[in-house]
Amino acid sequence: MGKLTIAIDGHASTGKSSIAKKLAKSLGYLYINSGSMYRAVTLYAIENNLLELIDLDINKFIKKLKENKIYFKKNENKSISEIYLNKKNIENEIKSLRVSQKVSLIAAVPEIRKEMVKLQRNIDRTKGVVMDGRDIGSVVFPDADIKLFLTASPDIRAKRRHNEMINDGETVNFEDVLENILVRDDLDTTRKDSPLIIEKDAVVIDNSYLSIEDQLAKILALINQKIKL
Ligand code: C5P
Repeated sequence: MGKLTIAIDGHASTGKSSIAKKLAKSLGYLYINSGSMYRAVTLYAIENNLLELIDLDINKFIKKLKENKIYFKKNENKSISEIYLNKKNIENEIKSLRVSQKVSLIAAVPEIRKEMVKLQRNIDRTKGVVMDGRDIGSVVFPDADIKLFLTASPDIRAKRRHNEMINDGETVNFEDVLENILVRDDLDTTRKDSPLIIEKDAVVIDNSYLSIEDQLAKILALINQKIKL
């Protein structure tokens, strides 16, 4: 068996990107965080006062969006890829609450999804890829070799995300983080275009009480099983 395509979907703040990064590193695969692409579009819309335009004239917004470049570049020190918007590294900025509070509304717009899915499918999969998001196993790569669905209790997820934000120097309170997680899950699972669903062939991992190492071991075991088939 050649190099695999691994799709990791799941609820908000379930540590998809942490586990995907480690997995990609241990396999020598490319890692792509599709959520950061929707976050990049959101940051672009906020910074250029274009949120209203999305509602008023989506085609005009898409035209403007296409004049910009959203891409990933490898950070050689960390050996992972980071997201750029027009030559600016926006990896940290996109994680802020102001972006999180708008991103799921923007990600529900079909025209925006269409553009992002195009970029995601253009990625070279020949060397193996781990991509995380909400619709990777269902829409972007329905042919993925391994499909994982991560979940955990909302309270535990909010605690983890809150700690992460505080460590990154952001001033946020726990209730706002929890609320944002619940609202995003609701928007992501109820939207018409590409809602978050559990694919029939996905393996569900509830990581409420699992360490990253436990999860990694579990996933690597699944991969070994798959390779042997
Ligand atoms: O993965 P992350 O939480 O950073 O993604 C931010 C938001 O982008 C999600 O809450 C979801 O609304 C949206 N998203 C999506 N489809 C993806 C990845 C993310 O709709 N494949």
